[in-house]
Amino acid sequence: MSAADPAGPGVAVLDGFAPVPLDEAPAVSRLLEELGLGGFDADDVRTRPGRNRLWFGVTTTGVDVFAKELTGDPSDVASRWERTLAFHRSAAARQIAHPRLLGADGEDAVVAFEYLAGVTGVELMVREEFSPSDAAAVGDLVGALHASPIGDESALRVAHPAERFLKLASAIPAPLYEQLSMAQLHAWRLLQRDEPLLQAIRSHLAAPPPRDTLVHGDLRVDQLLRVEGRWLLTDWEEFGAGDPARDVGSFVGEWMNRAILDVPTDRGDDRPFDVEEMTHELMMQRAIEKILRLQPIVSAFWSAYAHRRCDVDEAMRRRVVFEAGWHLIDRMLASAMDAARLGGIQRAAAGIGRAMMIGPEQFGDAIGLA
Ligand SMILES: Nc1ncnc2c1ncn2[C@@H]1O[C@H](COP(=O)(O)OP(=O)(O)O)[C@@H](O)[C@H]1O
Ligand SMILES: [Mg+2]
Repeated sequence: MSAADPAGPGVAVLDGFAPVPLDEAPAVSRLLEELGLGGFDADDVRTRPGRNRLWFGVTTTGVDVFAKELTGDPSDVASRWERTLAFHRSAAARQIAHPRLLGADGEDAVVAFEYLAGVTGVELMVREEFSPSDAAAVGDLVGALHASPIGDESALRVAHPAERFLKLASAIPAPLYEQLSMAQLHAWRLLQRDEPLLQAIRSHLAAPPPRDTLVHGDLRVDQLLRVEGRWLLTDWEEFGAGDPARDVGSFVGEWMNRAILDVPTDRGDDRPFDVEEMTHELMMQRAIEKILRLQPIVSAFWSAYAHRRCDVDEAMRRRVVFEAGWHLIDRMLASAMDAARLGGIQRAAAGIGRAMMIGPEQFGDAIGLA
């Protein structure tokens, strides 16, 4: 990886994607018409890569709209639909900055939001322009969400993805096995044999969080949007009641993942990186250097978050470290999805994640949760 590839591995480049033709998703135009917004100009509509189908642009009545059709397994789509609407109805939505919902069509799982011209957290992260004060603003938002009262949302439990992970770790069903890439098979072979890791996950899941809060449920940096200096949280498809450490750990894990993926690159270094052979020792030494370099971001996020919530104690810190470690393993599995082989860096990231999950008490200060 060289300086000519600034995004580095695992980061989607956001330009250059063509939207799905609107006549293949008639429910989108139907909803916009029903809402009195007119239609998108088919030649001027844009998209972003993601798990759903997205269109954004100006409509014929001059409104900036961001429309999304939820796609995937029908029961999953129904859950994500319900959670999206539940957030927009919740008392928390009045306090947490987010793009305004213009309308929704439950039949076809289409939602329309105001489009906000801004910059996403992942873009700023890749450009190395995500500052500690940005992180503090995001920490404040997440703290406000977690401090909001839970109402009807208590019925929308946010399950830990490790519940499914444990099932797969004991046996991968044949139909899924046939879909896995070589890299995923390799990853599962390593994970299935890793008894200390599996035991750490079982104990974590067996000890419920001291308190459930409202949670975003999928707090990665690409869900953050900065518009004219103000941060908003987007994509509320996993919203519900659950362990606050999930959100905090995802955000922290995003930065650790970035740090580790940057090990073989010059990004953030003050001198070119050029070695003949990347040994395990060198990889770990550089991973630590890169994590320390991003520590001010995690620290700023954590202090602003802690300022909003009074119950940020040692137990919470450990849960956050566990979740950040989990995030590293989750990203490793995600990056293995289309890969023929599991890269050394991905394995190193998962190895660090594993150590954090097994011994979370050793990592809090080092990663910036002080
Ligand atoms: N209303 C909006 N205006 C502008 N950008 C948005 C808006 N909502 C989300 N985004 C950005 O678009 C990207 C994809 O949106 P998202 O809702 O996360 O879709 P997906 O469900 O496919 O992940 C995110 O990176 C987010 O920052
Ligand atoms: Mg998203």
